[in-house]
Amino acid sequence: MPVSHPEEGAGRHAVAMHIGVIGAGQLGATLAEWCAEGGHDVAVTSRHPERLGDVVSHLGGHGTALPVAEAVDFADVVLFAPNWESAPEAISLAGPALNGKIIIDATNPTGPLPGGAASGFESLMQLAPEAHWAKALNTLPANVLQHRRGHDPLLAEFVCTDLRDARQAAATIIRDMGFAPYYAGGADTARLLEPGGPLQQTEVDVFHAKDALAEALTLR
Ligand SMILES: NC(=O)c1ccc[n+]([C@@H]2O[C@H](COP(=O)([O-])OP(=O)(O)OC[C@H]3O[C@@H](n4cnc5c(N)ncnc54)[C@H](OP(=O)(O)O)[C@@H]3O)[C@@H](O)[C@H]2O)c1
Repeated sequence: MPVSHPEEGAGRHAVAMHIGVIGAGQLGATLAEWCAEGGHDVAVTSRHPERLGDVVSHLGGHGTALPVAEAVDFADVVLFAPNWESAPEAISLAGPALNGKIIIDATNPTGPLPGGAASGFESLMQLAPEAHWAKALNTLPANVLQHRRGHDPLLAEFVCTDLRDARQAAATIIRDMGFAPYYAGGADTARLLEPGGPLQQTEVDVFHAKDALAEALTLR
């Protein structure tokens, strides 16, 4: 099913998933809460999972805190939201548990990109090439998402990935959170969503997402 249909609005998912959230800070803890509210089982993690009691207490009976590799092992889908400087360390802590795992990158790079990568997303993909990466949920601040969540017309959340399973998982999670997934293109499109790209900080509802994407593509 394409992720860009406006009629794909908010709604409860058919099947509860296991979601791992790497980086349970301002964004990650918020996304974890919304996943738990949607009925998914959530494992939050950081370098100090023992300090995540407060975050877990907001997840009802659907949450737990685990070390990074265990949270990834637990997860059907990983939401990736550490601060940018720590992203390589987080991938390293996850280790081989990331192989074959769907991982949705919500980070925004700061500073120069390593290895001549075209986007932060592609630089992270190089660190865990066996993972199934999608880029999403990075373009707007958590407080804007909170404000717009579930309101019609639904806020568009752009998704970039080369992989069908990652695209479908991202669409499901975004929909369950109360937004409208909108497929923007493959991994090479992710730079449109990141700082300096035309879709970063772009707040559009699903009916205007097509025009916003078309405009962004002309600025490439
Ligand atoms: N905040 C937003 O509204 C927002 C919106 C869109 C995108 N983003 C992006 O999302 C990312 C996170 O932003 P934030 O504002 O949520 O940052 P934050 O509040 O500083 O949270 C970052 C979290 O990452 C954890 N962390 C750091 N290193 C880690 C590692 N090696 N392994 C696992 N967890 C690690 C930190 O916990 P420990 O120190 O305990 O490890 C902390 O809980 C950034 O790239 C940001 O650009 C943020």
